[in-house]
Formats: sequence, C-alpha cells, structure tokens
Amino acid sequence: MTDAQTAAERIAALRSEIEQHNYRYYVLDEPSVPDAEYDRLFNELKALESEHPELVTPESPTQRVGGEALSAFGQVRHEVPMLSLGNAFEEQDLIEFDRRVREGLDLPSGDLFGDGAQVEYSCEPKLDGLAVSLLYENGHLVRGATRGDGTTGEDITANVRTVRNIPLKLHGSGWPKVLEVRGEVYMSKAGFEALNAKALETGGKTFANPRNAAAGSLRQLDPRITASRPLELCAYGVGRSDGELPKTHFQLLQALREWGLPISRELKLAKGAEECLAYYRAIGEKRDALAYEIDGVVFKVNDIGQQRELGFRAREPRWALAHKFPAREEITELLGVEFQVGRTGAITPVARLKPVQVAGVTVSNATLHNMDEVARLGVMIGDTVIVRRAGDVIPQILGVIVERRPADAKAVHVPEHCPVCGSAVERTQLIKRSKGKESVSEGSIYRCVGRLSCQAQLKQAIIHFVSRRAMDIDGLGDKIVEQLVDKGLVGSPADLYRLTYEQVFELEGFADLSTRNLLTAIQGSRKPTLARFIYALGIPDVGEETAKLLARSLGSLARIQKALPEVLTYLPDVGLEVAHEIHSFFEDEHNQQVIRALLDEEYGVALQEEGDLSPEYAACVTLADFLDKLNIPYVAATGAKNLAERFGGVEQIIQADWLDLSAMKGLNEKAKQSVRAFFGDGANAERARAIEAQLREFGMHWESEKKAVEGLPLAGQTWVLTGTLEAMSRDVAKEKLESLGAKVAGSVSAKTTCVVAGPGAGSKLAKASELGVKVMDEEAFLEKLKECERL
Ligand code: IVH
Repeated sequence: MTDAQTAAERIAALRSEIEQHNYRYYVLDEPSVPDAEYDRLFNELKALESEHPELVTPESPTQRVGGEALSAFGQVRHEVPMLSLGNAFEEQDLIEFDRRVREGLDLPSGDLFGDGAQVEYSCEPKLDGLAVSLLYENGHLVRGATRGDGTTGEDITANVRTVRNIPLKLHGSGWPKVLEVRGEVYMSKAGFEALNAKALETGGKTFANPRNAAAGSLRQLDPRITASRPLELCAYGVGRSDGELPKTHFQLLQALREWGLPISRELKLAKGAEECLAYYRAIGEKRDALAYEIDGVVFKVNDIGQQRELGFRAREPRWALAHKFPAREEITELLGVEFQVGRTGAITPVARLKPVQVAGVTVSNATLHNMDEVARLGVMIGDTVIVRRAGDVIPQILGVIVERRPADAKAVHVPEHCPVCGSAVERTQLIKRSKGKESVSEGSIYRCVGRLSCQAQLKQAIIHFVSRRAMDIDGLGDKIVEQLVDKGLVGSPADLYRLTYEQVFELEGFADLSTRNLLTAIQGSRKPTLARFIYALGIPDVGEETAKLLARSLGSLARIQKALPEVLTYLPDVGLEVAHEIHSFFEDEHNQQVIRALLDEEYGVALQEEGDLSPEYAACVTLADFLDKLNIPYVAATGAKNLAERFGGVEQIIQADWLDLSAMKGLNEKAKQSVRAFFGDGANAERARAIEAQLREFGMHWESEKKAVEGLPLAGQTWVLTGTLEAMSRDVAKEKLESLGAKVAGSVSAKTTCVVAGPGAGSKLAKASELGVKVMDEEAFLEKLKECERL
C-alpha cells in the first residue's frame, strides 16, 4: 500500500468519525466525545489534508471556513415556491383555521356530530431567523438559497456551507436523489449576545436582535465572515424532491433528522384546536427559557395527503398557520432622559417613554445603559424609537427612526452635577487590558463623586449590604431601606446595627412583632464569613466569586485591606484594573471609617473564618512571576525566569552590578540595559521592595515554588456546571468542586478547565465546543470527584 492510499483511508475514517460526532452533537444533542478528542481528530484531518491537498473534497468537515468573497449573489429560481404563512393573533383565529381545515377536508363538524373528527396537526416553534432552501443532489449539498420573493432567491451556497449544523452530505440512506430541504437559519440568544459583545469591544457593528444578526450574517458576500458567526439551522420542511417521502409531516421531519438535519426539539403532534392551543400556551411559557428567539408557533396539518387536498390560497397554504406571540418590539416616543445613580455612583441614562404596550405589558421606561450607548444609538429627545421587551429583561431601546425626527428634537446631555446629591459628576475612561495586547477602550462612564453622602448611592449600598448573598438580613426590603435613609436613621451600613426598637417601630408598616423580627434579623447577621463581608462592602468590580477568592486566598481582612495592587494580581482572574479598584477602595478614608464602625465591638460585626494565607496562593508566587509582573520593558516571561534563577531574590537584582548582569546568560543586551535602568530608578526599586516585603509579610517565600506545595487537587482550575445533574444539586456540585480547590464560574471562557453538562445543557455547552473546552457528563464528573477524593 502506498502512503497516499493509507492517507486516503485515514482521511476517510476521520471524516466519517467527525461527521458522526457532529451528528450526535448538533442533531441528537448528545455529545459523544469530549471536545479535546474532537479537536484532536479534526486537527489530524487538517494536517493530513494539508499534506495531501489532492485528497481535499468540498464535503470535508474542514472545508467550512468560507472561501473567496463574491462581488454579488447569483439568482436562484425556486421550482416549488417558498410560501409564507397565514397568521393568527387570537385564539379565535386558530379555532377558525381548524374549522376551515375540517370543512375543506369534508370532515363532520363537532357541533353536529358530538366530538366531530379531529384533525391531527404537527406543532413546532416559529423561529425568528431567515428562511433557506438547501438543495441536496445524490446526498450532497449543492446549493443554498434565500427565500427572496418566494419565487427567486439569492444563491448563498458558500455561506450555508459554513453553518456548522448543516450537513454537507446526508447521513444514512433512503433519501431521494433530489431533496430540497427548507428551514430557518437563526442565531441563538447566547450567540447573538456574544457577537454583539465582541462587536462592542472591537468597535464593530452591533445588531438590534438575533434575527437581524442572522440575516446580516447569512447575506454576506464574504463567506469567511459568515463562518465566524454563530449560525444554526432548524429544518422544517421539504420543497422539491424526486422520490418517496413519508406520508406525514411529523414522519418527514423524523426522516430529515435521520439524514443528519437538525429539527426542532419542541416538535409535537396535537389533535384538534384544543390541543393546539395547549401547545401554544406551553411554548409561550417556555419562550424566555428557550435558547433562541421565536415569534410564535406553527401548526401544520400532519397528513400530507390532506395537505394536498387543502392546497393553497394566494401565497399561503390552507393547511398551515402561524400563531404569533405578542410582539416584543414596538415603536414609541422618547419623552425625556433621566439620570439614575447606581451603587458605585455610576450615572445611568434612563429613557422616559410615551407609554406603549409591548408583549402585554405597558412600558414607559427603558434603559440606555450609558452615554456611549446614547451616542451609538444617536438618539435625541423627541425621537421615535424602537423598544424591545423580552421576558424579565429591562426594556431596551433598539434604534431610532431618524426619518421621523421632529425639528425640535433635543440632544441628550449628561448633567454636570449629580441629580440626587448635587456632587460633581466625573467622567472615567474604562480601559480593558488583555495581557500582552494593546489596551482596548471600553468606553466611558460618568460617576457621582458623592459616595455614601449621596442618598442614591447610600440606598443602593445598603440594599446590596443586606442582600441574601451578602449579609443576608431578612425582611429589610428596598422600601424599608429607603425609609431608613430618607428619615436620616441610617447614613452608612454600620448604622443598621445601632437601630433601636423605637426607630424601627415608627417606620411605616411596622408593628411590634415585625419590629422585633427585623431587629433579630439584623442581630443575626453579626457573624458573617469574611467572604460575605467583603462582598457586602460593595467594592466596585468585586462580585461574590472575587470576594470568596480574596477571603480564601488572603485569609484575613487586615491582609485584604492593605494588599498592594500587584500583590492582588496573584489571585486568579484579578487583573490590574480590579486590583486597583480594591486597593483604592480600602485606601479611601471614608471607607476606612465605615469599616471601623462596622467592626465596632459593641455595635458591629465579628468576622468568622479568618485565618492563614491559603497554600495555593502562597504557591502561586514565584520570583519569576513577580519579576514578570513588574513589566520591565523588553523582559518577557523567559527573561524574568532566567533573572530569577540567576539572582534568587529582588534585593540581589537591585544590588546587582553591571558585571553580574552582563555576565548573565538568557537575557539579551537590550533587556539587560532595561533591567538596569528600571531598578536604577529609585521609585521602581522601592516599589519592588515594598511588594516583596508585603509578600513575605503575608507568608509567601520565593522558595515556595508551585511544585513544592501540595495544593488541592483542582487548585487553579475553573469549572462550569450546566444542564441538570441527577445525583446532586448544582449547589452541592459547586461546593464539592470548591472544596477541591476549583473555582466554579457561571460562564464558559477560554480559561474554563472543564464544563460539566447534564441533560438540557444549551448555550454553555455550545460555547464550550466553540472554544474547545473539555466537557464531561455527570457520570464522568462523579468519577472525577471520587478520584480527587481518593488523592
Ligand atoms: S413553514 C408553507 N415552519 O416563517 C410553509 N416556517 O411566515 C412555509 N418559519 O418564511 C413555512 N419557523 O421563515 C415554517 N417551523 C416553521 C417556521 C417557519 C419559522 C418562518 C419561515 C417562513 C415564515 C413564514
């Protein structure tokens, strides 16, 4: 056998295995291998194909990256027109539709003959994306087209080929030689959010909603752009075909699924209008929880013979109906913009709208996020705007209808003084720094500098302080906090512990029992864990996880309070920005006063669980790392490592004379000069000494290199839990992981070590596979826990 033959065989085996995994992942939603294994197969195939370019075929799973850009789309004629659907908005419209269907089929009516004959309907969600036609010839995807006007669409073959869950080749057997599959290409909510977040970061174009994002992505002349967008297909029917197909719509969709096409997981059969309505309501309740946007459900007469009998009227089938949900987007007028002050003083513009009904709820306010968003939208007071409300999410302004702008429209200006306390408003430029990369501006925010003297900030600070995950003071709702602040009874969180029976009793809505209950709850919160206390302080950018990390790693409030920013950056996920926020929070005189008052022996709290520095933290500090963090120009990580090995301590480097340095290996001339210049600057040397002194004071020694310390088995790892777990609740799983040293995060990123995916896992699983993060099922997870516990 020649090399090329063996390569050809291996390539064929790899392709078939990868396709099988794709099918299990995208169509059956049952991932069959960990992502790392999938990537290994994929990379092996890519490598073999680059060695043997003559063996590359258009169907190879590697060929989805998108080819050359087009100058224009070609036209495609739909031999079987792509129709639209009649709409129902009220339940009555559906009942009428069912009556027309029964009449059309000459079925006895229910009114005259008892129950009458019920028609069977196939029910599926109406996805909010873009209709596509996918033509398979001899099982190969040969053409993809948009719907266009229903008769002529655009040829988007190159683009549909990049959509990961569209099979380039049909699976199984029994498919007609010519098969035109129809379906919706859409973007999941998570994919849409991620795409917009990326666009905001890089200054690219954002999309108003997932549908626009899907349409905009699919109608790109450059298929490489399409390939980079998280698009998915859901197949819902067949256009042209030249062979035998199943006799019902439901069976037809099952056949498509067997041939490798993803179909809706919400597909159901219903008999008669009643069951259709039940389906409509059930999906309506699920609407917010679905991973993708839908705008209604579609009912289709299930029997294809009956569909033929009913036929079409104008451009709509008589056998199908879209039952729409209330719209989530409406237009209204922007009456004004008010500014709200948040917990950290951030001033947020809030749109006051002419009240409008959106999806059954009156909307009169919408968030505008920040002034960058106002600028991005280009919105002016008096404008006609598009508002969107989805589930519990705060209504948003999606865009402006500029053509309707009145002549007297006014620009939106940030106030110079805080609307609540009158303090100055400062502009802060937000900078995001990714290691080794250019800093990217994340825009700016405006802040009231009044801190707790600003009633708005004070109220928010207290609401946060007493919240469940912070000090957990039950019964201290927002309205009570407002009263306490308005009446001047509470001017800082510490004052809560000085409230008297009389003061509480006087508040609106309080009687004897409720007063005693509230005071008991306040007293009950006097022994918080260090982590809760840190979180409760409401340090900007310090969420629950960072608070836990600070508490676990540094072990005491005293250490956290005085930790230098550089020292804080040794904590995983704490960057220099957050480290500075933490440091300056504790440096602030007013915050120090509040903390002192909170720790008052008689009227304050006593922290629990203070202790030593954690071994993992101590272990993560090496001299090399320390030198690297000093950001000495021209000294990269390897240079820092070599310096550390040669000198063994900070002082030795500061004191090193030129000869020592120049004799050193593993550092180039430019770097050596830079090291000299850096430590030659007294301020740098002092700073380095201070950081080192603090690290030593905290109990860390350069000798305690990572390898020497037996940390916890999952130390330094980040895990994500998604879907339902059967053997234990997610909270228990989280605790177990944390006790083994892992961090449990809420979202998947490139830094995630592993995702545990139970049944029902959705967007996080998809994200994990997109990023090549390892995934395990519950069984493997339990095995892993056992293994760790044995260690
Ligand atoms: S069936 C003749 N099923 O809705 C039947 N359409 O208003 C043609 N759509 O252009 C369509 N989900 O883009 C059908 N499950 C579904 C659908 C669906 C979304 C879209 C499709 C079509 C439009 C019709």
